[in-house]
Amino acid sequence: MKKILFVASEAAPFVATGGLAEVVGSLSKALAERGCDVRVVLPLYSDIEGKWREKFRFIGSVNVPVAWRNQYCGVFCYEKDGVTFYFTDNEYYFKRKGCYGHFDDGERFAFFCRSALEILPLVDFTPDVIHCHDWQAALAAIYLKTIYCRDSRFCNVRTVFTIHNIEYQGKYSLDNLQWLFGIDAYYQGLVEYNGCINLMKGAIECCDRLSTVSPSYAEEIKTPYFSHGLDSIIRRNESKLRGILNGIDPDYYDPATDNALYAKYDAKKPQNKAVCKEQLQRMFNLPVRPNTPVVAMISRLVAHKGLDLVTAVIDEALQDDVQFVILGTGDGYYEHFFTELALRHPQQVAAVIAFNSALSRQIYSGADMFLMPSRSEPCGLSQMIASRYGTVAIVRETGGLKDSITPYGNGGNGFTFADYNAHDMLYVLRQAMEVYRDRTRWKALVSKAMRTDFTWKVSAEKYDKLYDEAME
Ligand code: GLC
Repeated sequence: MKKILFVASEAAPFVATGGLAEVVGSLSKALAERGCDVRVVLPLYSDIEGKWREKFRFIGSVNVPVAWRNQYCGVFCYEKDGVTFYFTDNEYYFKRKGCYGHFDDGERFAFFCRSALEILPLVDFTPDVIHCHDWQAALAAIYLKTIYCRDSRFCNVRTVFTIHNIEYQGKYSLDNLQWLFGIDAYYQGLVEYNGCINLMKGAIECCDRLSTVSPSYAEEIKTPYFSHGLDSIIRRNESKLRGILNGIDPDYYDPATDNALYAKYDAKKPQNKAVCKEQLQRMFNLPVRPNTPVVAMISRLVAHKGLDLVTAVIDEALQDDVQFVILGTGDGYYEHFFTELALRHPQQVAAVIAFNSALSRQIYSGADMFLMPSRSEPCGLSQMIASRYGTVAIVRETGGLKDSITPYGNGGNGFTFADYNAHDMLYVLRQAMEVYRDRTRWKALVSKAMRTDFTWKVSAEKYDKLYDEAME
């Protein structure tokens, strides 16, 4: 049985701020279903709710070196869906609001990554592969190569590093190398990039295999437009790199069983989607009009999600018979823009500035179309969730959007446009509305979208193979 240890800074359902958590939660489960022994290490943030904490079992504690200091680390454990989760506890580092954005994040995740390795004797687990996710887990791969490889317990352990988003790299001043991160000056070259410590770069260099969350993104990050400065490092490590498309958990995202929905439905009997739509229009005080297409946007409200395309042409789009429902939080500029837009067009636009999972699924179920025009998108999960709820995705052809949504007309499951251009987006939006007015064609398209396989089946197998390669 292959033994895999995930090191990640978040995992659903315990603590989630974005897609990373969903992937860690659902991929670990899918690998366990394939017969791997999968364990996940997470920080015990105070944001993890009591309803989970009270179920965790205390195993013991270890001392974790953080450069020249020793820090207490309590270890809790919990099993879910065949996966064992370990939570490393240190209140100085994790008893705070929010997972990220603290002045000492570098130190917090240095502690976390070392704790992920230090707890292994206590829990009596020696993984074949440690799978690290994003920069917060990068140091686990780096420590393994620079410190722990001399330890007989670790000398055969291999690492896989997955880039979920190359934008966030974990950059720190070089002064921190020894006294904070505890890395010997001898290894400076491994983690140094452009005159500073770059933890993601260090993990790319140290890992045995490298992956990212879609085949297209794997190509894109080799180029300067997408790489946020790391393209030369990616190209140099190209032989280790694979692009593996994320999946979603089909049991969690299931309109046939989702209790948040007003009415349940599936691909065979989608009629109740109309009930969800009516409720959605009521809930948002929009005129209840069954034949007016509802376009949803559920997104972090930040520039790389393509919102400048939307702000450029939305007034033009609203000249058609269409309604927009927007849910998300993010940059003040966009929060104000959409709030104000809803005030100007109360009959056509509703905006809720919030992050709310149940509400998001009510919107996925009630809308007709889902707009996601990202400038770059490593994978994106919303377009898959929308499709599963029978809401047709309209996306820009980038990263995982390109790999999961194929254009209507060629047997595709949605609508796509290639150039980052507001009127190209408007053009496909109008194309979608035209197909929408033809009930037979639209029904067929909705069915196609709902039947697309977005499960982990194929991709979990690819990760399994990647672990084999790393172990060779
Ligand atoms: C990051 C990416 C997103 C991806 C997710 C899970 O949040 O921005 O595109 O789907 O990670 O891999």
